[in-house]
Amino acid sequence: MSQAVDEIKIGGIGASRKRVEDNRFIRGKGNYTDDIVLPGMLHMEILRSPLAHARIKSIDASKAWDIPGVHLVLTGEMMATRNLAWMPTLSYDTQAVLATDKVRFQGQEVACVIADDPYIAKDACEAIVVDYEPLPVIVNPAQAVAAGAPVIRDDKENQPDNVIYDWEVGDRDGTDRAFASADLVSKLELHYPRSHPSPIECCGSIADFNRATSKLTVYMTTQAPHIIRAAVAMVAELPEHMIRIISPDIGGGFGNKVPVYPGYVCSILASILLERPVKWIEDKSGNLISTGFARDVYLKGEMALRRDGKILAVRMHTDADHGAFFSDAQPSKFKIGLMHSAFAAYDIPVAHLTARGTYSNKAPGGVAYRCSFRVTEAMFFQERMMQAAADDLGIDQAAFRRMNFVPDEAFPHRTPFGFLTDSGQYAKCLDVGLKAIDYQNFRQQQEQARSRGRLLGLGISTMTEPLGAGNSREYDILGIKMFDSAELKVHITGKAIVRTGARTQGQGHETTWAQIVAHELGIPAEDVVVEEGDTDTAPFGMGTYASRSTPVAGAAVAMVSRKIRAKARKLAAHLLEVSEEDIEWELGRFYIRSAPDRGVTIQECAVAAYANMPDGMEPGLDATAYYDPPNLTWPFAVYIVTVEVDPETGVWDVLNMVAVDDCGVRINPMIVEGQIMGGLTEAYAMSNMQFITFDADGNCVGANYMDYLLPTAWETPGFELHSEVVTPCPHHPIGAKGIGECAAVGGPAAFVNAVIDAINGTGVRNIDMPLLPDRVWEAITYRRDVSGAPPVRSDD
Ligand code: CDP
Repeated sequence: MSQAVDEIKIGGIGASRKRVEDNRFIRGKGNYTDDIVLPGMLHMEILRSPLAHARIKSIDASKAWDIPGVHLVLTGEMMATRNLAWMPTLSYDTQAVLATDKVRFQGQEVACVIADDPYIAKDACEAIVVDYEPLPVIVNPAQAVAAGAPVIRDDKENQPDNVIYDWEVGDRDGTDRAFASADLVSKLELHYPRSHPSPIECCGSIADFNRATSKLTVYMTTQAPHIIRAAVAMVAELPEHMIRIISPDIGGGFGNKVPVYPGYVCSILASILLERPVKWIEDKSGNLISTGFARDVYLKGEMALRRDGKILAVRMHTDADHGAFFSDAQPSKFKIGLMHSAFAAYDIPVAHLTARGTYSNKAPGGVAYRCSFRVTEAMFFQERMMQAAADDLGIDQAAFRRMNFVPDEAFPHRTPFGFLTDSGQYAKCLDVGLKAIDYQNFRQQQEQARSRGRLLGLGISTMTEPLGAGNSREYDILGIKMFDSAELKVHITGKAIVRTGARTQGQGHETTWAQIVAHELGIPAEDVVVEEGDTDTAPFGMGTYASRSTPVAGAAVAMVSRKIRAKARKLAAHLLEVSEEDIEWELGRFYIRSAPDRGVTIQECAVAAYANMPDGMEPGLDATAYYDPPNLTWPFAVYIVTVEVDPETGVWDVLNMVAVDDCGVRINPMIVEGQIMGGLTEAYAMSNMQFITFDADGNCVGANYMDYLLPTAWETPGFELHSEVVTPCPHHPIGAKGIGECAAVGGPAAFVNAVIDAINGTGVRNIDMPLLPDRVWEAITYRRDVSGAPPVRSDD
């Protein structure tokens, strides 16, 4: 007699199943782009510009061509003959593949050499002589819009200045009226510094064009293989069905591997010209200096307040420095991404945001580093503003947030900028966090410590953020609507394979998608293999970034499983010789309603799909689902940090950190905790140790891991995680919300707020990240705000 299966035992939703991908990763058996060796493969290296802004007077590559082992030298001039010197960006701008007229940032790609091995190629790059005529340099938005500023994009018609966009959203007049009636206006200005995703594996590609079949296969480090296929088809004008993009194992992406980089394009052209596979693997400094940076946003905010603490309105202005090319990989119609998701957790009647984007002589920036398109900046700004406003009002930090939260009964809630949030228990999460940090007790300790000259501080960051782009109505990339997909094939023995249009970069999809199938069908997770990243086999999807996989591709996995279950029901009716209406489902089994002992397992249905289907039924048990989410998902988080600051040195230590994340239903609680731990670690690193900036000549300062520090277990504090608040997403088929980026988004403000709280009384409103000891010391000693905006000062 068949029986229902126990969901946790089969590794379904809620099981902390061990990550199946780790079997190969911890044995060193991963298969990354650089592990792939193809017969006859050549190697490509890139010559990069040493200057940030200069006219190219000439390029002499003759000495490079003469070096034995060199097969090809590509320059912008050569690319231009194939119409490939420039390429379109994902933000409807153009970007130089190899520079022709000018270089516009330090590290820009000027030429490529393809040789027998990477060392010959590197030597040959150094033999290329480029004659540059230096031009004045711009490294911040104020310089970009100053009178007489050099026009960086003089290649573009109708671009008389350095402004990319001027954009606004919200209710300007209503906001003005609210400010006029305010008891108090709280103001804050800050700079969210440029930051870099720094995945362990850099970017790279192996292009393999086969003249005999006309097929181009590209192995590459991309988070979005199908988008790359479409982009290659458009840029290189190759037929899409003759392009196969394979994204093998990826050693971390964090948004860095979404854009299309010149190295990919050059390796493809080189392979077509040479009819041999061409491998390009970026080095670490190349990755830090030239690939997608994130942030670099200046924020000015004002909050209109009633004396009792009610927020009446918010006004925000942002200046975004996009570098030399506007190449944001963000799929919304909003120019500054989802920046206007700021303050979504708070019940604020009216708000207005203006945003200006400008060019500068820096590598193109604005990638969503573990972030949903500027959400990190938005939440950082929001939570820094919340702290400043509470201080200005003289109201307790926690109480101020609580009194302004959207209450549980107010969902669905329209935010002041027009988003629809649909669920959450914000006050409950805050309560859990405050209890865990022992809030009242800490405040008393803080008072006592201060009387003895010790500086203790507590920082709170609370936020809801939009995860899971699309829907297709509002989100697209290059005109392709945002949705995602899953294909599920159940084999005759009841084992299965699921493929999605997402692409894991370490988040554990191979483990969790199988858990969703187990939850929906009762097939043990270990009987389900997950495959992603090959455009010839995976259904069309938009890739993985912005924590969209669970909200969109994960939902598609649930929906395709339900399609399979619907067909299996027909098979069960046939096997049990009753009509479909008489059949009931419990996990892993169909049974006859009136005779529950008589049932068939999902595996028996799988056999029947191939060996014993009813007359007229199409054989097989497989299906595809495309999922267009009705809304974004809105997880909520509370991060609370306590710190001690040494007033003599400015060094600060984390005493305790508590995280309360409500991401709806957790598919795999262990993986979710891993995501939060990783995000908090990155947040901690951003807030205190990752220094990368530019000097007045546009030299990238900190493009090395001596200045831009990656946190190790040694520096990283311990984190206490709480999972007791679960508010299922009302529109997601399994109630899940995204989680991947929450901690990296919400974490930084908690650390900075804690340090600012510790030095409360000095009159300091802001220290820009990273809060290096010298900056904190300067703030304490001179009782002044400390800006981190470039150009870097000579004493930094
Ligand atoms: O798009 P990305 O995979 O980076 O982010 P995500 O959708 O938030 O998922 C990150 C990892 O956490 C995946 O392995 C998810 O399946 C898992 N997750 C989960 O187990 N439960 C959730 N409610 C959300 C994510």
